[in-house]
Amino acid sequence: MIILSIETSCDETAVSIVEAKGGLTEPHFDVLGNALFSQIATHAKYGGVFPMMAKREHAQNLPHLLVTALTEAKLYNKNQESKDGPWNEEKCGVMQKILERENDLYEDLKNVLENVQKPEIDVIAVTAGPGLEPALWVGISFAKALGVLWDIPVVPVNHMEGHITSVLLKTDERLMIHESRILNQKIQFPAVALLISGGHTELVEISDWGKYKIVGQTRDDAVGEAFDKVARMLSLPYPGGPEISRLAEIARTKNLPKVAKLPRPMIHSDNFDFSFSGLKTAVLYYIHDHGDLSEIDKEDIAREFEDSVVDVLVEKTKMVLTETGAKTLIVAGGVISNKKLRESFEQMETADLCVKIPGKNMATDNALMIASACYINSLTNSSFISEKAEIVANGNLRLS
Ligand code: KG4
Ligand code: ZN
Repeated sequence: MIILSIETSCDETAVSIVEAKGGLTEPHFDVLGNALFSQIATHAKYGGVFPMMAKREHAQNLPHLLVTALTEAKLYNKNQESKDGPWNEEKCGVMQKILERENDLYEDLKNVLENVQKPEIDVIAVTAGPGLEPALWVGISFAKALGVLWDIPVVPVNHMEGHITSVLLKTDERLMIHESRILNQKIQFPAVALLISGGHTELVEISDWGKYKIVGQTRDDAVGEAFDKVARMLSLPYPGGPEISRLAEIARTKNLPKVAKLPRPMIHSDNFDFSFSGLKTAVLYYIHDHGDLSEIDKEDIAREFEDSVVDVLVEKTKMVLTETGAKTLIVAGGVISNKKLRESFEQMETADLCVKIPGKNMATDNALMIASACYINSLTNSSFISEKAEIVANGNLRLS
């Protein structure tokens, strides 16, 4: 099955083309084309992501990212027979209507796809949520317009399920991306997923593919959000996660004395929920009481903050693993780019527990994970691709 996938839920615009095979027993994915543009530089100036700005950038980026992905996949071919290709008047009208709120997207799309053959793609998968709704809508409208143009079904994908299935995508980084064979990553059930990103902190029990139960979640800030907010308190640039990590690493390398003491919120509570807002406030009070911060103070705080997050995430995850008797632990989402967290979870692997963590380039938002979730859904739900339900953006979409 050849999948064109589109991701625009936050500040990454991504389009990929993937050939998925092997079924549920041996899923594997060949990346035919992959194009991603990170808007971090735009949002860094403002210290966070502005939804309307993200939406505008997605609309600007999508047409040329699509061309890049199609070209890599050798699917960007000029139409020899008819000059107009699939662009007939009726389709143009429908596409214009779909894209009417997306600034110049219709014109930009027409510019790059006019006279281009319909590519051999079986399904278009697009992130429908959770995320920033204006940003999600651009991707959805773009996907729908392509679906009309090429008569290809369009299906919605849950971004968090994408993070879970990102562990199926193990690229061999020594190879060029379009040549890379993505290896089979079999998952044994029951599994537990810890999803840690800018907007989410969730513990999910997975009894089988497609059968998800959220057993724990944050009661306030998501872990990535806490990293970003603490970074701002330390006057570090956005996104703060990598910056905190960098300072924490320096503190460990220098073996600085541990001065700052921060709480481990809810670590001993008898449930699987999290709370990071108190930790963030504790950092604020510490800074307030401390006065001017030297570089060494910042490194010490960053290390203590990171240690606190690691302690809480590891402890709660262990509790769920014990409760569920899981055979596999999946840890995914942008925050697992954090080295200390990654090492701490990798160390939990035993003969009875397989730990799956996506490669670094698969941990942050991308379109390949949307393709992998689409494939899994097509295997677990026989009507997934034929369903014609209207796709709507849902900023709060939950796994169920
Ligand atoms: O999954 P993701 O790319 O986007 C969302 O769906 O939110 O996650 C982005 C989050 C940001 O909060 C960012 O600061 C955090 O992941 N992050 C990190 C690191 N790299 C990215 N947090 C801690 N340490 C890192 N190295
Ligand atoms: Zn994400």
